Amino acid sequence: MKKTTSLSFLVIVLIICNLLGCQSQNVQPQFAFTCNPYLQNLNQNGITIMWMVNNNSTSWVEYGKTEKLENKATHSESGMIDVNPGIQKVVLKDLIPGTQYFYRVASKEVKVHQAYKVIYGDTLFSETFSFTTPSPTTQSYSFLAFNDIHSKPQFVNDIVKRENGFSFAMLNGDILGDINAKDEIEKNMLIPFSSYFETGKPFFLTRGNHETRGSEARSLSKYVDTPTGNYYYSFTYGNTRFIVLDCGEDKPDDNQFYFGLADYDKYLMDEAEWLD
Ligand SMILES: [Fe+2]
Repeated sequence: MKKTTSLSFLVIVLIICNLLGCQSQNVQPQFAFTCNPYLQNLNQNGITIMWMVNNNSTSWVEYGKTEKLENKATHSESGMIDVNPGIQKVVLKDLIPGTQYFYRVASKEVKVHQAYKVIYGDTLFSETFSFTTPSPTTQSYSFLAFNDIHSKPQFVNDIVKRENGFSFAMLNGDILGDINAKDEIEKNMLIPFSSYFETGKPFFLTRGNHETRGSEARSLSKYVDTPTGNYYYSFTYGNTRFIVLDCGEDKPDDNQFYFGLADYDKYLMDEAEWLD
């Protein structure tokens, strides 16, 4: 008898809750950009554009030499166009050196993604931004280099405003203090830097030893794009060849504070072979 009464009470509560629309655990946040576009791997003929959204989506970039944005690019692997939450990544190829390009990014929410059924939600478009590909004849330009910011990026904005004629930025390591959660990469690096660089100046990143530390250090590479896919690489800007090296951790692999998870001797040998 007591059980029946409790059940009746629960049913009444559920009916009232339903009438009031209080189904909070089922409410999805509105589909939105969570990080503005940031530019990676700029070279004379290409660039990688990355940004973030808060739900499963498929994305593209509209771009061109005028604001008509007459070209469209997507990112696919093995014939499948990307559908994923979080980081969105599109590579533009066959660009002309020394040319200004305009672009905007678009993400279409994928609410249901099954073998024989796909249901789309809203499509988001960014504002139109621009970037300029480097020319091999460029002899004079400037870039900014930052390191040891240790998750306190706020002062970078003042420097960027003061030196706004720069062509790109080098993030030379220890931009983050450590990486214990993915949102530290977003909150302390990508969201502020995409804003400071006004979605028009690319940055090149390599790791500091602090960016090898924490449970999400292994995720960092997914948020950036480099010519080799590694933290060591080279690139050309104007008349200059840059070589970017990664020293990994700062102590021997068997140091007690690496807890048996360091393999940098092998990594440095691979890197030396690449450099050679
Ligand atoms: Fe440091």
